[in-house]
Amino acid sequence: MSGSCLFVQPIRATTLPLSKHLIPKQLTRHSTTTKINLITSFSLYKPIYLTRCCSKDPFVAVDDNKYVNKQVISLTPRLYDYVLSNVREPQVLRELREETAKLHGSKMQVSPDQAQLLAMLVQILGANRCLEIGVYTGYSSLAVALALPESGRLVACERDDKALEVARRFYERAGVLHKVVIKHGLAIDTLNSLLSNGEEGTYDFAFIDAEKNMYMEYFELLLKLVRVGGVIVVDNVLWYGRVADPLVNDSKTVSIRNFNRAVFEDERVSISLVPIGDGMTICRKR
Ligand SMILES: C[S@@+](CC[C@H](N)C(=O)[O-])C[C@H]1O[C@@H](n2cnc3c(N)ncnc32)[C@H](O)[C@@H]1O
Repeated sequence: MSGSCLFVQPIRATTLPLSKHLIPKQLTRHSTTTKINLITSFSLYKPIYLTRCCSKDPFVAVDDNKYVNKQVISLTPRLYDYVLSNVREPQVLRELREETAKLHGSKMQVSPDQAQLLAMLVQILGANRCLEIGVYTGYSSLAVALALPESGRLVACERDDKALEVARRFYERAGVLHKVVIKHGLAIDTLNSLLSNGEEGTYDFAFIDAEKNMYMEYFELLLKLVRVGGVIVVDNVLWYGRVADPLVNDSKTVSIRNFNRAVFEDERVSISLVPIGDGMTICRKR
């Protein structure tokens, strides 16, 4: 069946797990295992696309022809397990993730594969001065701090003091507290004060992961703070897939959709939208 494609329209589901009535008619001739393997399991928006009718194939893909015969895979739970089994997550990050899992809002933190990508970017850049907007309990910032050299600095902006307590404890446990400058307060105020301090063009790397309807404002300030050749990574640019759904028009979705369009058209940066986690755009300042 290689190359052939059965394309099933996306369905919407708020609570899945799989139940018989959610399995499209087109799949009824396949075994349950096959159906389960063919159905993705993202929690809010569950597209069902498939190309190969073989239960051993762990992937689904969008329409071949439209994408010049390129097989564009989408993660199934099994394939994502495989991805995660190939992530080298430091022990201290795993402990932080496990502790955070018990907290309200734990789904806000980046995934281990995303954190590894952030750390990799910091290392590739040879970054020394970094910024993070939206720390929560510190998972992504700890990954960045661990990747920084001893002389490196990460300015970590967060308004929630309870979450920061956890972050600080884990920076300490990981032996990187000396690399992190914690800024408790509204991120916009912190960024403006760094600019007033004459720090324009002095940062190598920044990560945006806070209020979705403030992305444009964060981005503009960070473009000033980051040097030419520096990188700004923006999280949640796919927003559970809602950005691609014309029927979803709540304020956060619209903000992110507008942000994505603005960045796409912005000649001041080179960009790459990476479909990892909830989607990350990597922007390099020209
Ligand atoms: C998605 S979470 C960050 C997750 C974190 N990057 C991680 O991977 O663990 C967003 C965080 O941004 C913080 N936040 C939201 N708006 C903010 C603002 N205006 N200034 C500072 N922090 C803000 C929230 O309190 C929340 O902890």
